[in-house]
Amino acid sequence: MDAFKGLPEAKVIWDPSELEPFRVDESHLRGVQPLAVVKPHGPRALRELVHRAKTEGFGLVPRGAGTGKAGGCLPTERTVVVDFSEWPGDIQVSPQDLCLRAPASAPLREVKGSAEALGLFYPPDPNSWESCALGGTLATNAGGPNACKYGMTRHWVLALDALLEDGEIHTFGISSVKANAGPALGQLLIGSEGIFGFIVGATLRLTPMPREFATLLLPVKRWEDLLDLPGLLCGAGYLPSAFEFFDPAVLAELRAHGPEAARRLPGEALAILEFDERGCTSEPFLEGLLDLLGPLADGLEIASDARQRQGIWAVRRLTSAFLKERHPKKISEDIVVPRSRLRDFFLGLDRLGCPAVSYGHLGDGNLHVNLLAAGETDPVVLEHQLMDLFRLAISLGGTLSGEHGIGLAKRDAFLALSDPAQIQALRALKRALDPQNIFNPGKVI
Ligand code: LAC
Ligand code: ZN
Repeated sequence: MDAFKGLPEAKVIWDPSELEPFRVDESHLRGVQPLAVVKPHGPRALRELVHRAKTEGFGLVPRGAGTGKAGGCLPTERTVVVDFSEWPGDIQVSPQDLCLRAPASAPLREVKGSAEALGLFYPPDPNSWESCALGGTLATNAGGPNACKYGMTRHWVLALDALLEDGEIHTFGISSVKANAGPALGQLLIGSEGIFGFIVGATLRLTPMPREFATLLLPVKRWEDLLDLPGLLCGAGYLPSAFEFFDPAVLAELRAHGPEAARRLPGEALAILEFDERGCTSEPFLEGLLDLLGPLADGLEIASDARQRQGIWAVRRLTSAFLKERHPKKISEDIVVPRSRLRDFFLGLDRLGCPAVSYGHLGDGNLHVNLLAAGETDPVVLEHQLMDLFRLAISLGGTLSGEHGIGLAKRDAFLALSDPAQIQALRALKRALDPQNIFNPGKVI
C-alpha cells in the first residue's frame, strides 16, 4: 500500500496472513481486516501516520497487548492498527516524587514490579495484569480486585503523554498529586479508548507497598448471605483491598472441573477477602472482623502464608479463562451497582429470569454476569437479555460497564441507554479534538 511506503521510524505489516492476529482481542468479537498494522518506533512515525490518515482518509486503531474485553482495539472499516508494543522508553521510578514514568508499551507486570523493587506499590491489577500493556490499561481505565480500596487506573495517573490530531505528542499533568491549573485534559483521555487521541506514556502515582496481608476464604451456605457484607464491612471501617466472590454455579463448576486447588474450595458460595493495612493480621483486627461477621464467620479460613495466599488468588485469576474454555461462546458482562444495592440487583436478576452465573468484584459492586448459553441463544432474545441486565444495573444507580469499557461490544447499548446530553457532549468533544475522525473511528460513541 502506497500510504505506508517510506514510513519513518516504523515497522509495517500488510501481508494478509500476518494481519489475522490483530483482528481479535479478549472480547467475543472479531474485527475486519485492517489495511495494515504499523508498529511505531518514534514520534516521526506517528506524525507521518496522522498526516497520511487525514490526507488519504483512513482511521487509526490503537492496540496494546490485545487483552481488552470490549473490542476497543479491533479494526473497523478502512483502518490501520497502530500497535504500540515496540514504542520505545524505559520505566523510571522516582521514590522522592512517589511516581514512575513508563511508555505505553511497558508490560503492566514490569510497571508493578519496578515499583515493588523499591518498596512501592502501583495498585491497578486487572485480571490480565501479567500479560497486558500499560497503554491499554490507561486507554480503558482498567480496574481489577484492588479497585475496591484503591480505585481504578485513572486514580493513579499524574501525567499523560498523548498523540493528538496535530500529529504531535503533548503532555498533560505533572509529577505531583497537586496540579490544578485548569480542567484535567489527561483524565479525559484515560478510559476514552483512543477516540480523542492515543496515550504513548504516563507518569503514575505510587504509594508505599503494603507489608501485611490478611487473605480470607469465607464460604457460605446461603449465597444471599454474602450480599450485604461489603456494605456492612465498609460501613464499620473495614475496607478490604479486595472482596471477590463466586456464586454457587461458578463455584460448583470450578470445584468439579477446575484445577486441583479449586477442588478443595469450601462452601456453596464463596468470598475471598483481603485486607492489607498495617495491623490487619493482629488479633484485635481479626476479632473485630469476626464480631462483624457473626455466625457467617463459622467456616472462615485464613491463609497462613504467602504460598496459600497465592494459591487462593491463582484460582480467582483463572476463573475467566476457565469459564471461557468450558463455554467458548459465553458472554461475560461487567455491570456495576453501588455495594448497598447488591441484594436488589440479584433479586432483580432472578425476577428477569436471566440465565446467568456470576463471579467478580463484590466489594465494589462490579459483577461479571456470564450468559453461558449465549452462543445457543436466539440473537434477538440474547439482545433483550443483555439490555434488561443493563437497565436493571442502571435503575439501581449502577452502570453497564464497571471496568472493561465500551469499545465495540457495548457501543449500541451505551448509545441507547445513556443520557442523550452525555452522548452529545462526548460527540462535541470528539469533533473538537478529532475533527476528521481519524482516532479509533466507530468506537464508544
Ligand atoms: C475478571 C475479569 C474478567 O475479573 O475482569 O476476571
Ligand atoms: Zn474483573
